[in-house]
Amino acid sequence: MILITGITGKIGQNLLPLLASSTEKFRLLVRDPSKVKAPANAELFKGDLSDAASVSAAMQGVSKAFLVFGSFPGSAKLHDDAIDAAKKAGVSHVVRLSVNGADANSPVQLARWHAQSDAHLQASGLTWTILRPGAFMQNLLGSAATVKGDGVIYGSSGEGKVPFIDAADIAGVAFKALTTPGHEGKIYPLTGDVAHSYAEVAAKLSSLLGKPVKYVNLPHEQFKAAVVSAGVPEWLASDYVAMNQATAAGFMAPVAPAVSQLLGRARTLDQFLTAHLGAFKA
Ligand SMILES: NC(=O)c1ccc[n+]([C@@H]2O[C@H](COP(=O)([O-])OP(=O)(O)OC[C@H]3O[C@@H](n4cnc5c(N)ncnc54)[C@H](OP(=O)(O)O)[C@@H]3O)[C@@H](O)[C@H]2O)c1
Repeated sequence: MILITGITGKIGQNLLPLLASSTEKFRLLVRDPSKVKAPANAELFKGDLSDAASVSAAMQGVSKAFLVFGSFPGSAKLHDDAIDAAKKAGVSHVVRLSVNGADANSPVQLARWHAQSDAHLQASGLTWTILRPGAFMQNLLGSAATVKGDGVIYGSSGEGKVPFIDAADIAGVAFKALTTPGHEGKIYPLTGDVAHSYAEVAAKLSSLLGKPVKYVNLPHEQFKAAVVSAGVPEWLASDYVAMNQATAAGFMAPVAPAVSQLLGRARTLDQFLTAHLGAFKA
């Protein structure tokens, strides 16, 4: 039995068809079971990663677990608690979703929180695999409203490039790590095969939509104020700025080979934008 968390999320939704194609048995820990149509080889388990008793119950009889859920102030402790629950229940192998650049000294809080939980897993005595994706292509859907309205992607990353990864490829790697041998004790940085600037993303959308779309680079403080006024919490807006600064300085551009090595070829930005074009159309 393999326990899967985060099945309703961006990675989890792409994992569902892969689970359905497998001969393994899965348990899907979900807060709201009505959100998921489980395949025949998967059982739904109503639980919450902030509820220790439900996490402990979900881990019983499980051989491997995929741990992924959101990051927010206090979440690192919940990630650590889930690792401890896996250890206590006798789970043998945990595959953990972290972030590219996870580092205890990072200026990005998300990267510090993930570094803490990666270290916790590595010290746990469990067999582990750590997946460290960079920015998801799915994040670009956050610009859909301004692309529809003004034909603009706003940011503060300058000319910096990002090798966006499709969450479907993260799901593909997670599935491999959970169902095939050879991934024990590995940390996989995960990116797409090509880094693009936001101006290049805008140009691609322009061509696909047949209307002008441009990238407008804002000063970091103006960008932060805009996302906070759109409802993003202050701490996350600060992280966005720290990530944009790193992007502008070229630190986010390096491409990692793991997706191509494990899956053959990473999904391209053109494939993603074409598949999600409806979201950017007025
Ligand atoms: N977005 C990126 O570019 C990016 C890049 C690298 C790493 N990451 C990391 O990827 C992870 C996922 O982030 P995301 O925002 O993209 O996630 P997401 O798609 O919103 O998915 C989060 C999943 O976790 C579940 N979840 C949240 N809190 C839970 C709880 N208390 N108990 C049980 N399930 C819970 C959610 O279920 P519900 O349906 O119940 O809400 C959902 O299935 C985070 O750790 C993030 O730091 C993201």
